[in-house]
Amino acid sequence: MDTVIVYESMWGNTAAIAESIAGGYGDGAVAMTTDEATPAVIEKARLVIAGAPVHALNLPTDATRASAQAKDSPGHVPADLTHPSLRAWLEALPAGPRWYAAFETRIVGPLGHGSADAIARAFSAARYEALDRPHSFTVTMRQHTQAPAAMLLPGQEQHAFEWGIHLRHLVTHTPELE
Ligand SMILES: Cc1cc2nc3c(=O)[nH]c(=O)nc-3n(C[C@H](O)[C@H](O)[C@H](O)COP(=O)(O)O)c2cc1C
Repeated sequence: MDTVIVYESMWGNTAAIAESIAGGYGDGAVAMTTDEATPAVIEKARLVIAGAPVHALNLPTDATRASAQAKDSPGHVPADLTHPSLRAWLEALPAGPRWYAAFETRIVGPLGHGSADAIARAFSAARYEALDRPHSFTVTMRQHTQAPAAMLLPGQEQHAFEWGIHLRHLVTHTPELE
């Protein structure tokens, strides 16, 4: 595989976007959790796409992840905290050069934004080059849900699939990085 799509996801929404990007990209792209995307896997990749939810205008922290878990209630999907945060994963990112793309899931409105830009900054600090601008995918304001990935607004998975097609097109027409 030459393209890794790594994600953090409490209730499956960011995971579903990652899977849709992989579907659009086609052969050679695999969506994986932060513990599956080991440094050895990343070192073999040409393009790394990373996504996380926006928590408090930024990447989730241990505190916001704990707060997501505290919102668990009977009849709702529990927050999945079994994988390391993307914030921790980025701290162990093998140095580039490699191509990257960043995305986030967030609610619509002034509280949106923060994670994709933070991901972009971490990649850039590790000598990765942006293949495309950061992308946002939107969810409803609910902070927990009765089914995995049920917070995504209509059309978001299709938008992610189309972005996957676009990234495939871009990477096919870019030079190798030195
Ligand atoms: C503790 C917490 C803080 C949040 N803060 C924000 C925020 O500042 N801005 C925003 O747009 N969404 C915020 N959200 C909503 C999340 O972005 C939303 O839960 C997430 O996109 C769902 O994706 P997931 O199922 O992959 O975790 C917050 C959610 C939680 C649990």
